[in-house]
Amino acid sequence: MQIITQADDRRNLPIGMFDSGVGGLTVLKALRKRMPCESILYLGDTARLPYGTKSSETITRYALQATAKLVERDIKLLVVACNTASSTALEPLRKAYPGIPVIGVVEPGAQASCRASKDGNIAVIATESTIRGRAYERAIHAIRPDARTSGSPCPLFVPLAEEGWVEGPLIEGIIARYLDPIFKPASGSDTPEIPDCLVLGCTHFPLLASAIRNVIGPDVTIVDSAATTAEAVEAELQKHGLRRTAEGCADTHFMATDDVPRFSRTGGLFLGTPIAPDDVELVDL
Ligand code: DGL
Repeated sequence: MQIITQADDRRNLPIGMFDSGVGGLTVLKALRKRMPCESILYLGDTARLPYGTKSSETITRYALQATAKLVERDIKLLVVACNTASSTALEPLRKAYPGIPVIGVVEPGAQASCRASKDGNIAVIATESTIRGRAYERAIHAIRPDARTSGSPCPLFVPLAEEGWVEGPLIEGIIARYLDPIFKPASGSDTPEIPDCLVLGCTHFPLLASAIRNVIGPDVTIVDSAATTAEAVEAELQKHGLRRTAEGCADTHFMATDDVPRFSRTGGLFLGTPIAPDDVELVDL
């Protein structure tokens, strides 16, 4: 006879994740790759996308509501799979749910960039809200106090990625409009030093990575936080003795707050595998 304890039960709960929409699926993909045996409950707050243009008060309120929905379904750990929400709402979430480990994507992205940059000259691109809050810059300086950082909002990259427009001359032209001032500044007496590392500080931007590479050239290291976040989640699960012990296949369940057909269509692009509309539950927060 197998005795199931309460601790076993918690270990076999899903990891909860949320994002403003489908962007966090780039993080889900990395989690699945690293820990294929963990179940995942994913919530995309598609009714209120984008978060990146909202005030920090609004983003925090949305993040608390999304988390409440996940906690209601029972989760063992929360991944804030959205840079904008990670930048503003991590502490309020930890305060509201002291019994649940909470991992954001900013800290792992900052760690990866500090490891990747030789010169300590790091550029961050993200949504307007993430750049305004300077969370990446704080996280980078906490690890590498001598680092030189700059932040630039690239709001148009979000709808381009959602549309699946991620390559070609038109897209590279838009990318150049944002990134040339950083990587190809006009020369003059005040010409800034060119960063050797670019952080994709938004869940949507990895889809544009190869077009970004074509624009900025081969010498700049491009960092996205998905893989390092998966590493951080695994470490946190180990620390709390929360790795899944149940046998059999892990399950991924999707929830969206609006437009399930669009979630499944664009979500497939971000996840790299199709999502059937029947696999997505419409929820209200
Ligand atoms: N998921 C958001 C982020 O990573 C981008 C989309 C949005 O603005 O909501 O910042």
